[in-house]
Amino acid sequence: MPRYRDDISALQAYEVGRPIEDVAREHGLDPDSIIKLAANESPEGPFPGIIEAATKALISANRYPDNDLWDLSHALADELGVQRDNLLFGNGSVALLADITNAVGGPGTKSVYGWPSFIMYRFAAIWSGTGYVEVPLNDSFSLDLDAMAAAIDEDTSMVMICNPNNPTGTIAPSDDIEAFINRVPESVLVVVDEAYHEFVDDDRYRSAIPTAVARTNVIVLRTFSKIYGLAAQRIGYAVGYPSTLVELRKAQQPLTVNQVGQVAALASLGQPEEVRRRTEANSAARHHLMGVMAERGLPYVESHTNFVFFKPGDDSRRVTEEFTKRGVIIRPMSRGWARVTVGSPDENKMLVAVLDEVLESDAD
Ligand SMILES: Cc1ncc(COP(=O)(O)O)c(C=O)c1O
Repeated sequence: MPRYRDDISALQAYEVGRPIEDVAREHGLDPDSIIKLAANESPEGPFPGIIEAATKALISANRYPDNDLWDLSHALADELGVQRDNLLFGNGSVALLADITNAVGGPGTKSVYGWPSFIMYRFAAIWSGTGYVEVPLNDSFSLDLDAMAAAIDEDTSMVMICNPNNPTGTIAPSDDIEAFINRVPESVLVVVDEAYHEFVDDDRYRSAIPTAVARTNVIVLRTFSKIYGLAAQRIGYAVGYPSTLVELRKAQQPLTVNQVGQVAALASLGQPEEVRRRTEANSAARHHLMGVMAERGLPYVESHTNFVFFKPGDDSRRVTEEFTKRGVIIRPMSRGWARVTVGSPDENKMLVAVLDEVLESDAD
């Protein structure tokens, strides 16, 4: 048997949410009747025009992708109002997270982040041999930036700020993030993960991109996986200071962003009406869902994203299994909490019907 690293061997491989086929087999359900609200994906497909553009890109599938992402980087730089050298793309923002952690972390250093937050921050630390400090969220399920600042010491190489935070859906006010960044030593890289940026509609929140392009130790991560409905194409990007991105790129595999994804992301840009339509639909459905939870007396956290953190019972594994049996896959969290993605109108209707069934069966 090969000798595996102890820390890697101790990991449980990341669960992306149970596959529909798996649930169908176990519960004898028709796969078409099952809905997956466990991975914060878009309920809608890609933007108009993408399928045609991406299909055409397949004609050149025998060629390696454009390693400099020339077209996409120019178009995105224009859209964001930054320079092309302020951008670094990756195979999903998760891949960038791993590259960044490799570039600045490693044995003897530590990554600091809130908890619960995106589980991949822990994976990225472990893969790279970086230590990690998980700072509990405050009583409002938001990042406790004071406690995070206090957790930084001379071994800290990076801080992850998930804003909005997954899985709780809360935002950290941008003024507080600015103040936090001003307290952090310049040798510590602050990575602000804005995967759910487009869903936020709150005056206290602003993107950290203007800070990231002005400071060598701040990076913003974004993705085409959420609002743009391109999760399968794996396109994420970092926005930051040019010389910082040059260093980070040294930890990245070449040719890591596939050409079909590049073309699909490019064709998604310049469609602000579609972004608005989708964010408005998400916001209305999210508020409806939170209203349903309030009416049923279920604890939930005010969400600014495309998912809601709520407490359907005391044993989240058991309760989410009750949902699964009825064809709705949601994500169990610790201490009775669960996370559900906002779906399409039909999916949301089915979710509410199943929620009521589960609550009723629990009451019996
Ligand atoms: C906070 C956060 N960051 C990043 C990602 C992953 O994005 P990508 O698909 O670009 O790897 C997710 C996915 O769920 C997420 O919740």
